[in-house]
Parts: sequence; structure tokens; C-alpha cells
Amino acid sequence: MNDVTPRDPNEYRPGFHFTAKKGWINDPNGFSYYEGRYHLFFQHHPFGTEWGPMHWGHAVSDDLLRWEELPIALAPDSDFDRRGCFSGTAITMDKQHVLMYTGVGPRGQEQCVALGDGFKYRKLPDNPVIRAAALPEDVRAEEFRDPKLIVEDGTLYALVGTQLKDGRGALVLFKGAALNAWEFAGVFDASTDTAPGVWECPDLFEVNDRDVLLISPQGMTPEEHRFRNHHSTMYRIGKADLSDGRFAAFGFDEVDYGFDFFAPQTMRDSRGRRIMVAWMQMWGRTMPTHDLGHGWAGAMTLPRELSVHNDMLYQKPIDEIAAYHINPLFWDVSFSGTWTHPDLCGRSFDLTIEFRISDAHTYGLSLFCGAEEETVFSYDHGSGVVTFDRRRSGIPLKGLERDPVSSGVRTVPVLGVGATFKLRLIADRSSVEAFIQDGQRTMTGTVYPRDTSQGIRLFSKGGPVSARIWFSRLSFG
Ligand code: FRU
Repeated sequence: MNDVTPRDPNEYRPGFHFTAKKGWINDPNGFSYYEGRYHLFFQHHPFGTEWGPMHWGHAVSDDLLRWEELPIALAPDSDFDRRGCFSGTAITMDKQHVLMYTGVGPRGQEQCVALGDGFKYRKLPDNPVIRAAALPEDVRAEEFRDPKLIVEDGTLYALVGTQLKDGRGALVLFKGAALNAWEFAGVFDASTDTAPGVWECPDLFEVNDRDVLLISPQGMTPEEHRFRNHHSTMYRIGKADLSDGRFAAFGFDEVDYGFDFFAPQTMRDSRGRRIMVAWMQMWGRTMPTHDLGHGWAGAMTLPRELSVHNDMLYQKPIDEIAAYHINPLFWDVSFSGTWTHPDLCGRSFDLTIEFRISDAHTYGLSLFCGAEEETVFSYDHGSGVVTFDRRRSGIPLKGLERDPVSSGVRTVPVLGVGATFKLRLIADRSSVEAFIQDGQRTMTGTVYPRDTSQGIRLFSKGGPVSARIWFSRLSFG
């Protein structure tokens, strides 16, 4: 007799984070609002749960939370993209949905265009429209991908990720007279980090009168708190001058200080919101849903609304999530040691806790608690640092990071905590996203606890603390 209990293939499938019905996904692509609906394309290997020949999967939504998967938009079926349809973006032009992506073909990575109506897409016959041969001498033509299409003052631009021959990640800008007529317009921005690596998946937008560049740099040099993952995500705040082909950055930081966050992409919706979504995974990591044969691998983060305050990027879960709250509960408590309540439990929830600063030196909570499992968020008031510890979160995860400890703990310093420390956690079966101090910092991570690990436990160390707790389960049934 086989004593291994068969596992439910959907035990880790999120309820409201996008996953493909089957197969592997990575980067979000072509995230856009077109003809009244949200469109999310994604790097997709439909025939397996590991990275493979890249297609563009496609899904649409009315509220960014319930997604309907449509037929695959782009397959690697042409000479110029037969080794893969890599990442890219979308805009609307003359009522058409314009996709620009990287075709990996006989000459390597080159930029291609496809036009569609929100359902069917056809590739331009004159692809690739930007050839690697158009790059200047000091750029590595083998690493040339992930175009961000921009229209400014009636002019077309494409910002593309690459690497300089001296090893530094960089972005190059092209100017378009038409979708099939482009010329090189400059090295837009380049890394000052000494670790070599491609700058992948650029995005550029304006929010609160600031220009923000999003980049996913490979292999940044790790620091005490940031850039601890194998690859990182970075935002740069500065001044973009597209007509001059340059970006002057006056500050940068990591976008998300957790474990699983890569290749973010944004769009502006009909309400004027700037919304970001990212791949909720990291390259080089073990993937339990692949190892367990669950038939799917990879998910997107919750879409997040962006703003800039004091030159820092703030992230807020989109308001639409409130429509899925059920059984809202509220507690105002004071305690020392630990505090639990039988109704405070679950694996899919939206939880906000406001700790009033007190003599306690550390406070926080454990979630997904079971006999041997817990996932811990804690705030140390002395150092002002938040810690996310997933070393006991369930199925152990391994990554390519050099420091083995770094695969289980992430930390982030929080600025300007006054009378209250505020933490919002959104959990969805196998993930948790922390929005700290109204989104000044975020930490995202996947976790694979047992189904029975549903406990939530608040704690304080070194004295009593009072806390206000708002808790709603989330239901998408
Ligand atoms: C980033 C990335 C992109 C590339 C795609 C391939 O995660 O490496 O640079 O276009 O994934 O799937």
C-alpha cells in the first residue's frame, strides 16, 4: 500500500492572484486598459511547469482580481521569434491594441510588433522592427530585450533593457517615425552597481509630478537590507528627457523587500490610477507546485496602486479588493506576550494591525501557524526594522542566493514611525504581501504551509502593547 496521501493539486493555487490554468508563467507583459477592460499578458510555457519556449498568454478582467484566460496571444511560430516571444508592453493606437515584444530569432534578441483587437493578434510582416544591428558599439547586442512602448507628444519611443560591454546594466532608447521605422536615440540610463548584469523589463511613468523608472536588474550587489535576492527590482526617481534620450536619476531603492517579486510593469487606467503588477516569484528558486506535479507554476502579485511621497514609491492594494471581504471583524486589544482569537485565522484574508508604540521593543504576528509551522512578521522599535521570516513556513524553498540564511529572512528599515506602526497583510493560500506604514515599504513572499496551518497570533516582547485589528476573510467562491 502506498502510504503517501494524495495531495489536492489546487492546495496552493491562489484564489485571487492570477495564475495560468496550466503551465508555467513568469513576467507580466502588455499590462493595459484597452476598450474598457484590463488586459494582462504574461510569459507563458503552456506545455510544462518549467520555463520553456515562451508564448504570450492572455487574460482579461473588469476589476483586476477576477481574470478570464483567453487564447494565447503570441506563439513562437515565426522565423523572427521561433526561439521565444519574450517580454514587452502594450499601448493603444488608432483603436488598435499594439504589442511590442522581443522576438528571439536567428540573429538573437530583436524587437517585434503585433497588432490586435483585444482577442486576436497578428505580427507585422516587417518584423523584427528594431534590429540588434542598430545598437552602438559599447552595447552587448546579445542582451537586448523587454521593450517599453511610450507615446509622448505624439512621438513613439521604445525603451529596451540591455547591458553595456563593461558589464553594467543599461537601458537604450529608440525613437519611432512609425511602428516599423525606428532609430537609436541614446543610452537612457545605466547602472552604477559594479556587479555585472542585464537591466531587464523597464517601465517609465509619471506619478505625483515625478518621473519613475522601474527596472529589474540581474545580480545587484546585496546590501544589509536590500537586493538580497538572486535578481532584484529597482525604482529610480528622477527626470526623464525622452527627446534628449536621457534619464537623470536623483534617487533609487528596491521596489519590494520580500523574497518573490520580479519584472513589475504598470499601466494607467481609466480612473487615472497608476497600477503595478509583478511576477510573484524569483529566478533560480525551487517551485513546490512543479515538484508536486500540480500542473501550474508561478503567479502574479496583487495589483497595487502607486504614488510618490517624499521621493519614495508607495504601494497600496487596489481598492477593488474590498468587494471580496466577508465577515469583517475588529478588535481593540492590549496584551503582553501573545494574543489570539478563535475567529482570527485562515489562509485568505486582508488584515490590518495598528500597534500603538509602547515600552515593548518588538511586536508583530505569526500567521499560517500550525503545530510546526509559522510565518513571522515583526517590528523592532529600537532599530526601526521589519523582519519577514519564512524559515518555518512549510515546504522549504531553495534559491541561487549565495548566503543560505538569506533564503529565509528578509528585513527592511521603516522611516518616520510616530505613535503607531501599521502593517497590512494580504494572504492568499500560498502567498503573503505586507504593506508597511501605508505602503512605504512592501514585502512579498510565497509560502507552502499545510492546509491545517491557519492560526494567527499577535505577540509583543519586552512589555505590553495595544493594537487595533481589522480582519476580513476574502472569498472568491
Ligand atoms: C525577465 C526575463 C526577461 C525576458 C523573459 C523571458 O524575467 O528574463 O528579460 O524577456 O524573462 O521569459
